[in-house]
Amino acid sequence: MKIAIMGFGVVGSGVGELLITNAKNIAKKAGDTIEVKYILDLRDFPDSEYKCFTKDFNDILNDPEVEAVIEAMGGTVPAYDFTKKLLLAGKHVVSSNKELVAKHGTELLQIAKEKSINYLFEASVGGGIPIIRPLISSLTGNDITGIVGILNGTTNYILTQMIKNGKSFAEALSEAQEKGYAEKDPTADVEGIDTCRKIAILASLAYGKNVNCEKIPTEGITKITTEDAKYAQAMGYSVKLVGQCVKAKKGVFARVCPAFIDLDSPLANISDVFNGILVQGESLGDVMFYGRGAGKLPTASAMVSDLVDVAKHRNTNIRILWNEADEDYLKDGKAQKYPYYLRFMGDADKLKGYKVTKLPGLDNEFAIITKAASEEELNELLKSEPFSNCEVLGKIRVI
Ligand code: HSE
Repeated sequence: MKIAIMGFGVVGSGVGELLITNAKNIAKKAGDTIEVKYILDLRDFPDSEYKCFTKDFNDILNDPEVEAVIEAMGGTVPAYDFTKKLLLAGKHVVSSNKELVAKHGTELLQIAKEKSINYLFEASVGGGIPIIRPLISSLTGNDITGIVGILNGTTNYILTQMIKNGKSFAEALSEAQEKGYAEKDPTADVEGIDTCRKIAILASLAYGKNVNCEKIPTEGITKITTEDAKYAQAMGYSVKLVGQCVKAKKGVFARVCPAFIDLDSPLANISDVFNGILVQGESLGDVMFYGRGAGKLPTASAMVSDLVDVAKHRNTNIRILWNEADEDYLKDGKAQKYPYYLRFMGDADKLKGYKVTKLPGLDNEFAIITKAASEEELNELLKSEPFSNCEVLGKIRVI
């Protein structure tokens, strides 16, 4: 099977590397050899083992020998236009591009279906962790009631380095960038946008209807302080950035936010670049997926597996249900009731009925965990006595 790679950055070059180092094994599993005929990139790579670079997309589009294309470009321009043209031309596309999949998955999958080819994107969520295939295949006997995921390697790396190794935010972020985990613009990582795209993909696949990533309430990790982390530890929690979706009566709740996670939860101990995804199935109960959520070879491994699947389904569309949804299908995740960790500057003496936590060295402040409340109810509570006189220093959902 002749293929092309579009984008020879961290992930694309990882696919190129795996196809060389693991060629025999991959060929056995695919039932065919996989040969890279073109690599599209605007940069030059004189030292690469590959000598098939092009800067012209039309070389790939117009070559009937190219059956499948790896899209590791990232972003939607020009990746959307290229992917659509390739699918319409009857070429399979394998993508790691979560932004493109989250925004245009419905349309691109529909084209693949009409053309009896495949648009596969295992690498778009959870890096090397198999999670897309379980959702579209192994877990389909279940009614999925909810998904909670630590879905961004960069922020998990930053939080772990800050909490466990006392590193500064900037230092930890720069390490994540050096290791090739972060997005080109790491705002997408630290502001939760990357997690938002990923939970939108998972929710769309779990329930077969499009969850609009642009409408999910999303908050990143920039407001989390080392003090919050210290309170978390003292109170029996760890702090993580999570993407969450929960099945509703006629739709799905979704939200991305930092969360206090009980230390007994399997999600609490997922550290560094690792991702963890907890899927709640009605028949199966909880099932947990864990592994490296970013990085060159873990992500490339998921893309190569998709290529092997393409080789095994050259003339068949693997059914992936992801339809358009009504406007009111996505419900506001902030309306769901959860307890909250609140950290205040002020005097805890007037507080009755709350267990107050105070930490040595952090004078004039304290923290509590509230009863379950929606975000609106919580804001009302904060306006009432005795809280109205206390300055809120931290507010994090407890899940
Ligand atoms: N920037 C992403 C992360 C890459 O850190 O998880 C993998 O999608």
